[in-house]
Amino acid sequence: MDFLRIDDLKPDQLRAVLARAESVRRDPSAVAGRLTGRSVGLFFQKPSTRTRVSTELASAQLGAIPVVLGQQEVGFGSREAVKDVAAVLDRYLDVIAMRVFKHSDLVEVAEQAQAPVVNLLSDVEHPCQALADLQTIAEDRPMAGTTLAYVGDGNNVVHSLMVGAAMMEMKVRIATPVGYEPDPEYVAKAESFGDVLITNDAEEAVRGADVVYTDVWASMGQEAEAQERNRVFSPYRVDLALFDQAGEDAIFLHCLPAHRGSEVTDAVLDHDRSRVFDQAENRLHTFKALLLHLFE
Ligand code: CP
Ligand code: NVA
Repeated sequence: MDFLRIDDLKPDQLRAVLARAESVRRDPSAVAGRLTGRSVGLFFQKPSTRTRVSTELASAQLGAIPVVLGQQEVGFGSREAVKDVAAVLDRYLDVIAMRVFKHSDLVEVAEQAQAPVVNLLSDVEHPCQALADLQTIAEDRPMAGTTLAYVGDGNNVVHSLMVGAAMMEMKVRIATPVGYEPDPEYVAKAESFGDVLITNDAEEAVRGADVVYTDVWASMGQEAEAQERNRVFSPYRVDLALFDQAGEDAIFLHCLPAHRGSEVTDAVLDHDRSRVFDQAENRLHTFKALLLHLFE
């Protein structure tokens, strides 16, 4: 199977991957060496810290050989056609994981390659991030019935998150500025799993919520729009006044990297109910669980 979109896992498979991630977190030694002799390609067309480190370590700690590749060396789609890169990597690697600008390139690789293809972030989804987000929430409280409020840009991160959260029977509320709502296809998909509210009112989304989540206002590749986005998004900043509208034991999440003072203030990012570094850690455990699932 490929993992290009969060719902490439069925709800029971997603639940099983999250449960395994939690047991891997508690006892990483139980799965050490489980993928000895396998190889995992990790290609990055954009910058990365968490994804780069967690996926390489996860592969190595499971015994697989990680091969990390950057755009400068590969020239994906410029030095060589996307489908030729895919065909070549497929001859060497047991899993091809890629961070790309265009989701359609991932689809092309997946069509060409026999090996499972994993999305390490595209312009449309960030499903590996959603796995870590859900694990972090599940560590804190039962997912079913939990209310998740996302405030900010209707981007790749929220697409995977809203569908994954709805699959896990969470109540999803998304607040964005007008014109920056998530793709209606993703809204419909999330609605097919459960309770989803799309609004332009940040307080309406956050009021009484159990989890408050935000992400950068301008994603990688949108740098030219940053100034305009800073203006449009400033009423959607997650500051203490907004976070205080959430439930009294609500947690704060952010996929990171954060732009302190823009989409989130220091007081919220460093709050004692912020779980952002657990969330970053969980990228490691969830990627191990995903790899193990792909080889079953
Ligand atoms: N959250 C995340 O994907 O971080 P990186 O861009 O640093 O990999
Ligand atoms: N939405 C952000 C997430 C970074 C992990 C981006 O695509 O740049």
